Amino acid sequence: MSDAPILGPVNRVTDLAAASDFEKKHTPQIDIDEVDGAYVVTVTVGAEVPHPNQPDHYITWIELLAGEAAIARFDLSPIATTPTVSVVVNADPGTVLTAIEHCNLHGLWAAEVTL
Ligand SMILES: [Fe+2]
Repeated sequence: MSDAPILGPVNRVTDLAAASDFEKKHTPQIDIDEVDGAYVVTVTVGAEVPHPNQPDHYITWIELLAGEAAIARFDLSPIATTPTVSVVVNADPGTVLTAIEHCNLHGLWAAEVTL
């Protein structure tokens, strides 16, 4: 078995309410809390429909972009981690944040929010 490609295509779900369980368990959910003038950004994969988290099928990494710039990246293991990460972001209101995740079997999935 080979891993899914990391150079694309990037899957994006435009209507999560109408998405399939397969799409829901791969699409990153981005939650934002404002704390002391900064943003605590939490990205969860499988928030509504849990994604498998086993050595043969798991989320290998999650990356966060602000506009076109990569600002955080988390390499994950299915051993002792779950695909939820948080980072404090100092960015201007109106900045578009994009979360991209890589499933070792099903490739790249992205979602975005505007601060
Ligand atoms: Fe998957």
